[in-house]
Amino acid sequence: MRAMALFRVLVLFLTLSCLVQIKGQGVGINYGQIANNLPSPSRVAVLLRSLNITRVKLYDADPNVLFSFSNSQVDFMIGLGNEFLQNMSKDPTKAQTWIQQRLQPHISKTRITSIVVGNEIFKTNDHVLIENLLPAMKAVYSALVNLGLEEQVTVTSAHSLDILQTSYPPSSGSFKEEFIQFLKPLLDFHSQIKSPFLINAYPFFAYKDSPKEIPLEYVLFEPNQGMVDPNTNLHYDNMLFAQVDALYSAIKTLGHTDVDVRISETGWPSKGDENEIGASPENAALYNGNLLRLIQQRKGTPAKQSVPIDVYVFALFNENLKPGPTSERNYGLFYPDGKPVYNVGLQGYLPDIIYTSNAATTKILNLWRGVMGLAVAGLIFDMDVKMRMR
Ligand SMILES: *[C@@H]1O[C@H](CO)[C@@H](O)[C@H](O)[C@H]1NC(C)=O
Ligand SMILES: *[C@@H]1O[C@H](CO)[C@@H](O)[C@H](O)[C@H]1NC(C)=O
Repeated sequence: MRAMALFRVLVLFLTLSCLVQIKGQGVGINYGQIANNLPSPSRVAVLLRSLNITRVKLYDADPNVLFSFSNSQVDFMIGLGNEFLQNMSKDPTKAQTWIQQRLQPHISKTRITSIVVGNEIFKTNDHVLIENLLPAMKAVYSALVNLGLEEQVTVTSAHSLDILQTSYPPSSGSFKEEFIQFLKPLLDFHSQIKSPFLINAYPFFAYKDSPKEIPLEYVLFEPNQGMVDPNTNLHYDNMLFAQVDALYSAIKTLGHTDVDVRISETGWPSKGDENEIGASPENAALYNGNLLRLIQQRKGTPAKQSVPIDVYVFALFNENLKPGPTSERNYGLFYPDGKPVYNVGLQGYLPDIIYTSNAATTKILNLWRGVMGLAVAGLIFDMDVKMRMR
């Protein structure tokens, strides 16, 4: 049995080495798991390796995933769910316990670079959550300091773009009045601990609401006239860059030019309900394909040309259990079987074998990795449910 498994693993290495690989330089991906049909994390580790994707955002500190990516070259941003904020704000030792229990067991082997405290908190309009966001972030930061991890792991939070009151023209970007009292100290904290401000930005939402007014080419990064910001004379030929610069302007109104903006989610659905105009595989391929090219060119936005956009694409897989309109379940670049939903030049490899976790095999595989000069990372183990269910 074991010899057979080993043989198959070796075949896998040979297959991997023959693949044409596409540079995924600088691309991050959201690894959402609201589904019941996704491949095991160790198989996903192989897929991402074959895609050359080295930055992943996870929505929680899933120990299976973190274990499966040990000794890989992948940097993780780890979400800390909204449900924890109140407790951590009230009792900062809970933040420390969470880090000790959920992150520390992995941190020597798996590269954890960031904790994303809360997701789209302001969009909930839940005042308890909104008031507890910053105290929870501070609790997490203090815990990292106590544990000597604050240089290695940054603390941030991800926001939806509708924290903005005005986003057009970009130079007039401003925050919603009712959030300013919370955003001002939040930005002061970002500035103090030198961490980026994360935004989930979806030009798709704007387009589907106003398909008659907004040119499709402008939201899909296709050639178009674009628009000139009358205050700055800067030319914008795509909506995503305009949205990011609007956020920079809003941040500036609160006194900060020292906080970087990063895009923690953006994407385009390949399918939607009848009223979700624009959701199609063709448009999703254009959006994500053009975006990947801009990332590879290390493009900055017109107002911040020297800062290459930093993007986590949403999402790795279609997630069949996501509630809401059809589009919600169709943002993935890949089907759960590893096949691309559409062609953006990302041809990955999802192995169909399950590895066993065992010191002897690991040793031999490491030897083989050396012999073949393949930096195939962290793909040997599978503590997968599938294995246990057999
Ligand atoms: C993977 O990306 C790195 C840059 O991040 C690049 O140097 C390398 O050549 C890429 N490898 C392949 C096989 O595409
Ligand atoms: C928050 O604390 C309460 C009381 O200790 C506990 O019952 C609850 O499970 C905690 N919530 C979370 C998400 O940990």
